Amino acid sequence: RPRVLSGIQPTAGSFHLGNYLGAVRQWVALQESHDAFYMVVDLHAITVPQDPAELRANTRLAAAQLLAAGLDPERCTLFVQSHVPEHAQLAWVMNCLTGFGEASRMTQFKDKSAKQGTGNATVGLFTYPILQVADILLYQADQVPVGEDQRQHVELTRDLATRFNGRFGDTFTLPAPYILKETAKIYDLQEPTAKMSKSAATPKGLINLLDDPKVSAKKIKSAVTDTDTVITFDAANKPGVSNLLTILSTLTGATVEELVTGYEGKMYGALKGDVAEAVTDFATPFRTRTQEYLDDPETLDSILAKGAEKARAVAAETLSQAYERVGFLPAK
Ligand code: TYM
Repeated sequence: RPRVLSGIQPTAGSFHLGNYLGAVRQWVALQESHDAFYMVVDLHAITVPQDPAELRANTRLAAAQLLAAGLDPERCTLFVQSHVPEHAQLAWVMNCLTGFGEASRMTQFKDKSAKQGTGNATVGLFTYPILQVADILLYQADQVPVGEDQRQHVELTRDLATRFNGRFGDTFTLPAPYILKETAKIYDLQEPTAKMSKSAATPKGLINLLDDPKVSAKKIKSAVTDTDTVITFDAANKPGVSNLLTILSTLTGATVEELVTGYEGKMYGALKGDVAEAVTDFATPFRTRTQEYLDDPETLDSILAKGAEKARAVAAETLSQAYERVGFLPAK
């Protein structure tokens, strides 16, 4: 079985529709066909200021949402990044292989550090992508299911793996991004040319899966479309309508063509109503299941403990090979 690995940040509290459609939905599907490792990346979360109690609560909340979305601990390895110390250990080695200029070119760092104000970003935020490289390489992942915004980090992973292998001998599998074209980028409902994200200027375009579905329905009904009235898929000229079609198609399983045919002669309100209904149909049981996991923290923590144990077995083996190859004296 080919191996997949991916991660999600706990910072945000509720996952948003972009996280689910762009990534988590694929994680659920891939656990059937792949040897799958999924983690809550709490080490990445502290690259921006975090409240300790909130971070702890959000880490459990993220794990609960992953289980509610359909991850099955019998079919995949679900764990918390900080439970596996090898991530930080391999990250150090990879830091020492990364050029300063190379790290400076990471667009996500540029975006995020700009938001923090010049000079205020931490060194951790700067080396964030290199920790992600270590995450992926530790598991010898063949594929990394993510949204489009993570492509550059997977490319960096390939570059660094190639460099390490060239310098020290074949050690790491070169991973490929697993990005579905249709859902690679889910857009903000108010600004349909920007990706849906927690850090948008207004929360009006963001669908949080744990929000009251009525709140989400309202946001969907006031989504920005265009002055035209025809429902067709045209990402360049009709980004708002196209985004709604993508969301509806993915949640219902109908193809975009089928949907477009069905909406002939209908107004945008019909499409928005259907998207609101599809989101509600998904979010309602998702919220209930998330709450059930949160109400039973012992079960949740024991799932994560087992996951960490399985993850660690793989990570420790890779790390010890990497340590040996770079020339560290083995501890006796
Ligand atoms: P994070 O937590 O920001 O996002 C989790 C996943 O959601 C995807 N995503 C989207 N997909 C489509 N449309 C959107 N609007 C959208 N917004 C978010 C992201 O692409 C991601 O797949 N650096 C990563 C976490 C990470 C990781 C890893 C991923 C750490 N180590 C190793 C893969 C492998 C991140 O911050 O994702």
